[in-house]
Amino acid sequence: MIEKSTAKKKKKREEEKESQIYENSLRPKKLAEYIGQETIKKNLDVAIKAAKLRKEPLDHTLLHGPAGLGKTTLANIISNEMGVNMKVTSGPALEKQGDLASILTNLQENDTLFIDEIHRIRPAIEEILYTAMEDYGIDIIIGEGPSARSMRLNIPKFTLIGATTKMSLLSSPLRDRFGNTFKLSFYNEDELHEIVKRAALILSYSIDEKASKEIAKSCRQTPRIANRLLRRIRDFAEVENMKTITLETTKKGLTSLGIDTMGLDQGDREILDLIISKFNGGPVGLSAISAACSEEQSTLEDVYEPYLLKIGFLERTHRGRIATKYAYDHLGYEYIEPKNTH
Ligand code: ADE
Repeated sequence: MIEKSTAKKKKKREEEKESQIYENSLRPKKLAEYIGQETIKKNLDVAIKAAKLRKEPLDHTLLHGPAGLGKTTLANIISNEMGVNMKVTSGPALEKQGDLASILTNLQENDTLFIDEIHRIRPAIEEILYTAMEDYGIDIIIGEGPSARSMRLNIPKFTLIGATTKMSLLSSPLRDRFGNTFKLSFYNEDELHEIVKRAALILSYSIDEKASKEIAKSCRQTPRIANRLLRRIRDFAEVENMKTITLETTKKGLTSLGIDTMGLDQGDREILDLIISKFNGGPVGLSAISAACSEEQSTLEDVYEPYLLKIGFLERTHRGRIATKYAYDHLGYEYIEPKNTH
C-alpha cells in the first residue's frame, strides 16, 4: 500500500507540473477574458475601478471555493488590472515570522501579495498579517531580555489576496480583515463550453462543437479539468493524425481515460465503490476511507469530495460519509438504506 501511495503521489506531482505549465498559457489575463463567475467579475470590476480612481491599493481580497475553479487566475487578473506586481507564496511555505516579514518589506507600493492555502498559515505568522493588513506595519522585537523592545516598521501599502479551499478553517480575526470576500462556484455547461473553445483556439487546435460540448459535460464542472481533458484528447487526435477533434475521438479518449458519463474518473468511482462495498454505504469516517484507498485525507476533501457532494452522490453527516442512492444507481449496485446516520 505504501508503494502504491508513493507511486500515486509521484504521478500526481508530474501531472501537476505539466498541468501548471499548460494552465499558465491558457489563463485569462484580463477580467473581460474570464468566463463565468459573473457576480464576482461585476463586483471586482467596480472595486478595481474605484481603487484606481482613488490611486489606492484594492482592499484585501479573499477568494474561496473548491480547487481548480480559478482562484489563482483571478489573483493574477486583479494584479494585471491594477497594473501592479504580484508576489506569490502559500500558507505552508511561510515557516518563520521572518519569511513573511521579508516578503512584506520588499513589496512595492500597491503590489499584491497572493497567499495560497491561507488556512494553513501558522498562528504566529498570522499575527504579523493582522497589523500588516490593518496599518501597513509590522512590529519587530529588537534586543533580548529586559532591554528588548518592540519597534513598528512601516511597509508599503499593499493588497493581500488570500485563497482557500477551506473557509471554515480561517480564524475570524483573519477573515474579518478582508474587505472583499468572493466565493467561487462550480461552472455551468455553457461556461465550460466557452472555456474549452477558448483553450482550443489558444492551442491552435480545431475542435467540433459537439466534441467541445462533450468535454464541457465531462469535466466535473471545473475549468482546470476541462483544460486537462482537452489536452489529453488532443493527444488522441494527434496520434490518429486528425486535424480536428471530433466527437468520436473525444468519446474514445474519455473512455480510455476512464471518465464516465457523469464525468467521474477512476478515483471518484473507487471512493464510492469502497464506501458502498466495504463500508455498507456508510456512514464512514474520512480516515477509514483514506486508509482503504491510500489517498491523503486532504486530497479526498479538496479534490474528490466537493464535486461528489455537489452532484449528490455523497453526503456528509456528523457520523461520516454516506453514499447516496444516486451513487448506488450510477455504479450499478442495489440500493440499501444506510442505518444510524444521525
Ligand atoms: N481557463 C480556465 N478558467 C478560465 C475561465 N474562467 N475563463 C476563461 N478561461 C479559463
